Order: sequence, then structure tokens, then C-alpha cells
Amino acid sequence: MVCKDKIGMKKNLKSTALCDAENKIKGMLDEKRFIHSIAVAQTAVIIAEKYGLDKKKAELAGLLHDCARDLSGLKQQYFIKKYKIRFDSVSKKIPGLRHSFLGAYVAMEEFNVKDREVLEAIKYHTAGNASMGPIAKAVYIADYTEINRKYRSSEKIRAKIKTNISLDEMAGLVLKDKLGYLVEEGKLIHKDSVDMWNQYNHNI
Ligand SMILES: [Fe+2]
Ligand SMILES: [Fe+2]
Repeated sequence: MVCKDKIGMKKNLKSTALCDAENKIKGMLDEKRFIHSIAVAQTAVIIAEKYGLDKKKAELAGLLHDCARDLSGLKQQYFIKKYKIRFDSVSKKIPGLRHSFLGAYVAMEEFNVKDREVLEAIKYHTAGNASMGPIAKAVYIADYTEINRKYRSSEKIRAKIKTNISLDEMAGLVLKDKLGYLVEEGKLIHKDSVDMWNQYNHNI
């Protein structure tokens, strides 16, 4: 099977599972979010290539990372009830955080994803987490630095891919930029981001 672009031209040869996932996610997201998801998948592959990670896992996790972003309230309630999901006090207040945690369950149920690294990448792509594995780090970085992103240092961090920077250093830069924004704007900070900061900068 070949994935097609908007005008029906074949893009490149991909696995059937990846094409199926791409076709399905297209119907679950608005156009802008779909384009972002494709860009995150492509960026995650570039990062995976640089650091010798599994490119297929990185691509799938990047493609699906926002799968719960446009979920209806009713569908969210379905997943929350079925999987007995309990959001912490910060996540309760920030919908932008909840889609990450919900997304892991959506990927499991709607896309039949069983791979722990892919699910972890979806779960932690927004707040980060001190215990993230390499695929999760790649998606965390890709989500912030894909070509369409215009955050404070997205472009600068993206350019670092061509240097000898480590994967942890890249993830640390993304975290620092995100935290800087949250502090300056006086916004809530999720505990996972604080723990990641302490782990990455102070080894605790
Ligand atoms: Fe997201
Ligand atoms: Fe995203």
C-alpha cells in the first residue's frame, strides 16, 4: 500500500500499518493538526536517524502523538471511564496536557498500538517526563521543533540537529524553552516537567 498526498500522488513507500494509521488520523484531526502531525513524524525520523533509534517507532509515535487532540467531549469521557483515568490537579486545569495522557489510550484502542515506547512517547510529548526513553525524547523534541513551529527557540533548537549535541541536551533545551515561557507567562507547570528539569539539570 502507498500513502497518497492531497492530490492523490504517491508520496513514498511505507508499511501498510503506517499508511493505515496516516489515513485514519487524517479523519480525526483538523487539517492544520494533521499537517503538524506529519511534520512531527518526519522530524522524529530525522532525530531517530541521528541517534540510531528505531525510525518506524519514531515515525508512528510522531504521527499519532496528537491523536486525542480533537477528540469530542463524549469520546474523552468514554476513554476516561473505560480506563479509569485520573487526571492530576494541573492536568484538570489544562486541556492541552490532557490530550497527551488520553492519547496513549486512543492510540491503543483506535490504532491497536501495543508498543510501550510509542505509547510512552504519546503520553509524555507535552509535559515531558524524567524517565522518558529515547523514542519519547525524539517525539518531545520533534513536537517542539518541526518546521511549522514558531515557538521562542524552535528554529534554534532545530538547527542543533546538525551539531554533535546529545539527545538529552536537545530535550533539555526544549524543556528550558517551555519552562521559560510558562514562568514568564505565570502559567501552571506540570509536576512531570519539574521532575524532568531536576533530573536533567541536577541529577535528582
Ligand atoms: Fe500535543
Ligand atoms: Fe503536537
